[in-house]
Amino acid sequence: MTDHVSQPTVLVFDFGAQYAQLIARRVREARVFSEIVPFDISAEEVKRRKPAAIILSGGPASVYAEGAPHMDRRVLELGVPVLGFCYGIQEMATQLGGTVPRTDVGEYGFAELRVTAPDSPLFEGVPEVSQCWMSHRDSVGELPPGFRATASTAVTPVAAMEDPDRRLYATQFHPEVAHTEHGQRIIRNFLYEIAGIPPTWTMVNIIEESVERVREQVGSDRVICGLSGGVDSSVVAALVHRAIGDQLTCVFVDHGLLRHNEADQVVRTFRDAFRVNLVHVDASERFLSLLKGVTDPEQKRRIIGEEFWKVFFEEAQKLEGVKWLAQGTLYPDVIESGSKTAAKIKSHHNLIPFPEGVHFELIEPLKWLFKDEVRAVGTELGLPDEIVHRQPFPGPGLAVRIIGEVTREKLDLLRRADAIVREEIDAWDRDRQVWQYFAVLPDIRSVGVMGDERTYGHPIIVRAVASADAMTADWARLPHDLLARISNRIVNEVEGINRVAYDITSKPPGTIEWE
Ligand code: XMP
Repeated sequence: MTDHVSQPTVLVFDFGAQYAQLIARRVREARVFSEIVPFDISAEEVKRRKPAAIILSGGPASVYAEGAPHMDRRVLELGVPVLGFCYGIQEMATQLGGTVPRTDVGEYGFAELRVTAPDSPLFEGVPEVSQCWMSHRDSVGELPPGFRATASTAVTPVAAMEDPDRRLYATQFHPEVAHTEHGQRIIRNFLYEIAGIPPTWTMVNIIEESVERVREQVGSDRVICGLSGGVDSSVVAALVHRAIGDQLTCVFVDHGLLRHNEADQVVRTFRDAFRVNLVHVDASERFLSLLKGVTDPEQKRRIIGEEFWKVFFEEAQKLEGVKWLAQGTLYPDVIESGSKTAAKIKSHHNLIPFPEGVHFELIEPLKWLFKDEVRAVGTELGLPDEIVHRQPFPGPGLAVRIIGEVTREKLDLLRRADAIVREEIDAWDRDRQVWQYFAVLPDIRSVGVMGDERTYGHPIIVRAVASADAMTADWARLPHDLLARISNRIVNEVEGINRVAYDITSKPPGTIEWE
């Protein structure tokens, strides 16, 4: 049984996580499979994995700093093509006998890159002068024996170097960031021309491989999968269903905290369109009674999280002969639970609170994929856009968007207002610029007037943010006309709401959600 991708693989050495992930994604965009490994992976382990190429990431350290990350030098002697970026060029230079003197001048941001060796295969098709992105203090001084400099900037004489005989290449700038004008071309040159890797990591191949692997893994066993309405669990379900059809049963725990029409859509998509064996558990009463009187956000989350798994396993145990649980773990989850050691990756799996005496083996068919690849797989498998491009939605659902106690009445108010917010912004935001947008129901009321009558109703807070990864966010600069339409519609169409406010707080200091 293989639990691995059988494609030519680029190993990305991780000298600083955020850079490594970006590089791995760029390589995949060039249709080549890439995997992130710890910087200190041994030459023996690298050899065992037979990579088609290696890329050394950048990193925040200085090569001479105490505790700076260093690679096994013998990796550079394996004959595998290596490309180093930023910290990677400095590491390559010092490991092979060059120098990286401390300089007084750093170089941060845009720089003019001059290709000084136009015959370098790395710069094939790159103009003599172009823009690149720099972020460094030190840089290579004396070249290691056998190397030549191939590019420079005003302050960095060795902006790139190479030793084609040993298939070693490196740049001081960052080809992986979008600010480097011809960065993707440089990466492609390395992958296709220098390393000779064919661009075969395509959606069709990803799906075929995953389907094959799931079949091999589970044989004729039965599998369950928890559906939440989110992208990851939906794609897992569709993929596993493609692989093993009726051997799969999906359990959809409907906690009653989903948005307008969401539960229906899950049922329509999976039961009606895909003809998946689907157990739809309407557990809203159960959740609501547990949430009665609960106002603390963390307590809400805990109750919902625990109850979710309880309901799920109750249903799972009713099914006969199930051996496997399919889960929507993605590659960033795997990396974040620890790229340093495999043991840490395992600990991630233990997050599933199996009840006493219950255990399922895990299959995680998406664990090699980034989020954008998961979406592309979902589309290719025929999932509707509403699911594939669903905005991030918290597991505890609308419970964390109702400040104070959650009741059926408040859920109903919030659901209707939220549907209007989404409908209006969806219609305006054709190219999906806004990251997340929703309504929040605070635990206050205020006075208003409608017709001749005074009202005493709830306000709705509209939240819409721009973000790349939810770590930081800025409030979206929605046009006033759009905000006016949202406000009018909510007050007119949702009885009980008499005021609408727009949240103009960035993150930090605010968070995206209100609880
Ligand atoms: P915050 O509010 O911390 O949210 O800025 C960052 C991102 O995480 C989502 N979020 C959650 N997702 N369970 C989840 O699955 C939660 O309890 C939860 N709280 C926040 C939020 O929607 C945003 O995308």
